[in-house]
Amino acid sequence: MLKAVILIGGPQKGTRFRPLSLDTPKPLFPIAGLPLIQHHIAACAKLEECKEILIIGSYTTNTMAQFVSDMQKEYHVIIRYLQEFAPLGTGGCLYHFRDQIRAGNPSAFFLLNGDVCADFPLKELWAFHAEKSEGLVTIMGTEATRQQSVHYGCMVRDPASKAVNHYVEKPNSYVSTLINCGVYVCSLQVFHTMAEAFEKKQNGFYSGNGQSGHPGYMSWEQDVLAPLAGTNKLYAMQVTNWWSQVKTAGSAIYANRHYLELNRGRLDGRTAPCQILPDVFLHPTAVVDSTAVIGPNVSIGAGVTIKAGVRIKESIVLNNATINEHALVMYSVVGQEAVVGEWSRVEGIPSDPDPNKPFAKMDNTPLFNTDGRLNPSITILGAGVVVPAETILLNSIVLPHKHLSRSFKHEIIL
Ligand code: GDD
Ligand code: GTP
Repeated sequence: MLKAVILIGGPQKGTRFRPLSLDTPKPLFPIAGLPLIQHHIAACAKLEECKEILIIGSYTTNTMAQFVSDMQKEYHVIIRYLQEFAPLGTGGCLYHFRDQIRAGNPSAFFLLNGDVCADFPLKELWAFHAEKSEGLVTIMGTEATRQQSVHYGCMVRDPASKAVNHYVEKPNSYVSTLINCGVYVCSLQVFHTMAEAFEKKQNGFYSGNGQSGHPGYMSWEQDVLAPLAGTNKLYAMQVTNWWSQVKTAGSAIYANRHYLELNRGRLDGRTAPCQILPDVFLHPTAVVDSTAVIGPNVSIGAGVTIKAGVRIKESIVLNNATINEHALVMYSVVGQEAVVGEWSRVEGIPSDPDPNKPFAKMDNTPLFNTDGRLNPSITILGAGVVVPAETILLNSIVLPHKHLSRSFKHEIIL
């Protein structure tokens, strides 16, 4: 029997995802029509041996209850949400809930960061891990550019045994282009290593050795993985499958494209209501005029109304939004219940990985550049925003419930 653990953080994380995470927690933000972590759940549920999925975070149980019950019905595996009383870090939260993870004595558990998206090769990862008799943890690794690698966990591997000899979390200078994807298989014995790491942290905390924060705080990467490197207990399986982080709103559009591609045919046999340029996800309850043109890379949520002559590409339109006659939406996210007026143009700037650089990842740039100006990115309309007719909104972020009265370029509208 196998289990899976998904780490989702809490409301204080995912700040670069604002304002999209103001009304929907980032792990539940819909990408290709499914909440972000539903893609993780679907990948785990595909493995017959996987009998339980534990989601750990510091969002309230109420916030997660509906989602957990929906998932449980859809995938017929046990899914439980475990709420941390305080953010304990990626290692601290696992250690805190160790009894729940170990219950039933699974052969191993998958550990997935909730903020990555990928074509998760869980079966291969499990087969790889099962072969390494000494291995406590196998990391899914991928190649990054030299320059971008330092924003991730970096690993140096023995070419023959694939054992990780050196692990540095977000190094200050170049270490390796093999990076940690935040996807792992772990044997239960890893909790012994964690117990030692925990004790060390506790001693440091109570002797006042410069450690601040919560006494239960522990980093999985720094306190567990790094010390395991070089002991023949840590392995890395390198993959070439599609993988990306979801940190910024721009990365949601990029992830949307890839998940749409993986889940082709999301019209589920329905006839297209208008001209569709694949790939497109169209919720069955969306009302779309036959003269609209949608795609490529578009997800349309429940209850959305799309009127005559509308053109939408490279965008996510959330539940119950209305796009009025002849409006154009591209490289944008339109929030729930937002309204785009007729003949208006809502346009962002794509922030895809550099196509000319092999292994390049998304740049996840902060909202502002060093001189305080907005970095070019997709346009975001928060929930309930109203864009009047015949206006242009270019590379801007509009906070929820704002009724605009004119056109804006490169601005954050509060
Ligand atoms: N439950 C819980 N509690 N989850 C947490 C906590 C916590 O205190 N802190 C972070 N997480 C979750 C986040 O929501 C995210 O899904 C995951 O753990 C990792 O988040 P970060 O701590 O923000 O790390 P990161 O994304 O910058 O880097 C990690 O992932 C990279 C790949 O995406 C590291 O593992 C890197 O080594 C790795 O390359
Ligand atoms: P996650 O990993 O997504 O949880 O985010 P984080 O906590 O790692 O970083 P965060 O999103 O808070 O910040 C990333 C960068 O964006 C930092 O350099 C911040 O200074 C910048 N940033 C984010 N939001 C704002 C904002 O509203 N104003 C300004 N000036 N900078 C911001």
